[in-house]
Amino acid sequence: MKSFHQPVLLAEVIKHLIYDIHGTYVDSTFGGGGHARSILKEISNKGKLIAFDQDQFSIIKNKICDKRIILFNANFSKIKRILKASKKQVKVSGILADLGVSSYQINTPQRGFSIRFNNILDMRMDLSKTKSALNIIKTYSFENLNNLFYKYGDFKKPQIISRKILLNRKFINTTFDLVKLFNNNINFLSRLFQALRIEVNDEINALKKLLKQARTLLKKGGRLAIISYHSLEDRLVKNFFKTGNIHGIIRSDNQGNNLSTFHKRYTKRIFPTKQEIYTNPRAKSAILRITQKI
Ligand SMILES: C[S@@+](CC[C@H](N)C(=O)[O-])C[C@H]1O[C@@H](n2cnc3c(N)ncnc32)[C@H](O)[C@@H]1O
Repeated sequence: MKSFHQPVLLAEVIKHLIYDIHGTYVDSTFGGGGHARSILKEISNKGKLIAFDQDQFSIIKNKICDKRIILFNANFSKIKRILKASKKQVKVSGILADLGVSSYQINTPQRGFSIRFNNILDMRMDLSKTKSALNIIKTYSFENLNNLFYKYGDFKKPQIISRKILLNRKFINTTFDLVKLFNNNINFLSRLFQALRIEVNDEINALKKLLKQARTLLKKGGRLAIISYHSLEDRLVKNFFKTGNIHGIIRSDNQGNNLSTFHKRYTKRIFPTKQEIYTNPRAKSAILRITQKI
């Protein structure tokens, strides 16, 4: 079984993110350390990499021994506070976020992320948190279930799914209980699992917090690279890059010039090539956006 993580859009990330080889960079989603290893190869002896992952096992399993890297087992939503508290560099040259789960997490049956293995419905990236997918199944109201399946799973009629869960929640404990209950195609089940995972890990709120802090953490000319795998995340990133705020509201000066923090159209969206998707199917829905602070 493949449990290592093949980094997505690696060459493209490195090409646009690293513009100063002596700079300090942040990998906010360390995962299998794939992007981190390449960043370390690219930067000089004076350069630094500060990496975050909220999954303690990703850090333990994939730790890199290099004096230029500092690893934090923490949520990237606390990036500013952690950098400040640890007296590490507060202004950085670039920040990368490769959102979602790693192959290691998906391929570890007991983490309960995958429709391929039978296990308790867990899906927590941070195992110190109490809310799991099973808690959601057992306790959420009809309205809250509808909301999450609509927003995070793109289901147009979430009520059908929520009703079925409410009627059967007593009998649902494992990933296969859910798979059997819906007895549907892989696309449907993947969206169902994805919606639960996004809710369990509060992924959209964490991304909003990261974006807001990145704005002040970046030096002038610094780069922000985000790889997203869901239209909701990508829309948030697009609007943030365009306007400099997470509400996507354009602020202009008296002359009507956009007062965004970022260069307009620094790059277009970058997609993986057919060849990359062929060798790494996880890359299929990836969209990379990179911007530069003005
Ligand atoms: C797609 S993987 C990153 C893979 C990595 N780029 C590589 O090349 O190996 C995403 C990782 O980010 C972590 N993660 C997701 N959301 C996070 C958050 N809010 N704070 C910290 N880590 C997060 C996950 O635990 C997972 O290990």
